[in-house]
Amino acid sequence: MSMTNEQKGERRITARTGILGLLGHPVGHSLSPCLQNGLAEFMGTDQCYLAYDVEPSDLEKAVEGAHALGMSGLNVTVPHKQAVREFLLKEDEVAARIGAVNTLKRREGGWKGYNTDVSGFLRACDSDGVELKGKKIVLLGAGGAAYAVLYGILSREPKRVLIYNRSVDRAQALQDHMREHFPETDLSVAFNLQELLEKMSRAGDGWVAVQTTSLGMYPETESKAVEDPAFYELLECGVDIVFNPAETAFMKAVRAAGPDKKAYNGLKMLLFQGVRSFEIWNDVSVPDEVALELLGRMRAELDAMN
Ligand SMILES: NC(=O)c1ccc[n+]([C@@H]2O[C@H](COP(=O)([O-])OP(=O)(O)OC[C@H]3O[C@@H](n4cnc5c(N)ncnc54)[C@H](OP(=O)(O)O)[C@@H]3O)[C@@H](O)[C@H]2O)c1
Repeated sequence: MSMTNEQKGERRITARTGILGLLGHPVGHSLSPCLQNGLAEFMGTDQCYLAYDVEPSDLEKAVEGAHALGMSGLNVTVPHKQAVREFLLKEDEVAARIGAVNTLKRREGGWKGYNTDVSGFLRACDSDGVELKGKKIVLLGAGGAAYAVLYGILSREPKRVLIYNRSVDRAQALQDHMREHFPETDLSVAFNLQELLEKMSRAGDGWVAVQTTSLGMYPETESKAVEDPAFYELLECGVDIVFNPAETAFMKAVRAAGPDKKAYNGLKMLLFQGVRSFEIWNDVSVPDEVALELLGRMRAELDAMN
């Protein structure tokens, strides 16, 4: 006797199943389908999530077409997070302040845009016990992801923040952008490694470093933004938003600097930004215990891709 889909643990797709999706370019290595379909399964929502590879020149057509097809929500990833803003009915305040959108919720006549990278980063820090309030923070990198991460850090009222990036003009642009929203915070740029180390050692140890460059990401797993061991000795903790491999070169350097130093990768940030998108689409709260059960699946999916 053959088993039913429910007995096999499979979800049934019917004419009523809601369609969600990811727009990016490329999307072949995205973990979002694994995460979002897992959330639908765990939370019991009748939804199916697919990844769509959309060329930049096709973005407007894809966003309008998805609405015309009745899709209930979208994620948007590199390289469309800024460009998509042009095609929205409205955006929430955080997305507007950061200048990037990664989640679209269906509204009558169009889409509302949100940025869930901020809450993803903060919920991951909370889950790992990484304290930001009142801390000395060094931010490595000033690319797209750094905007959401720095916004999250500043919203927690750190003692001071130093930005260090290969291209100083991008670091300054990030600093200027955030000073408009957080004029009270002690936020500055270190123009080179020597200046970074001097400023850090003058303030003493206990720094929290948040690594937002793409260095160390698979398959270039040996590279990191700062090589000098003196940098890592000044840290109490390092958070890398890169999540592949599970232990990045940056994390290894943090751990090598002392047994009491903690290091975390970016998989939980990825998990919780997706969880927040799911919560926005469905007007629900996903408990941490449910979300964290999906981490193992995401790791297995990554290992299968590598
Ligand atoms: N965990 C998560 O949920 C999550 C979310 C978003 C992104 N991420 C990860 O974060 C990383 C950055 O993403 P992004 O969107 O911000 O990328 P991006 O906009 O391209 O920025 C790349 C950053 O890396 C720096 N960089 C790249 N190559 C470098 C090199 N050879 N030497 C020194 N610095 C270098 C860039 O410095 P310059 O400005 O000097 O070029 C810039 O700061 C990616 O690995 C991405 O997968 C993770």
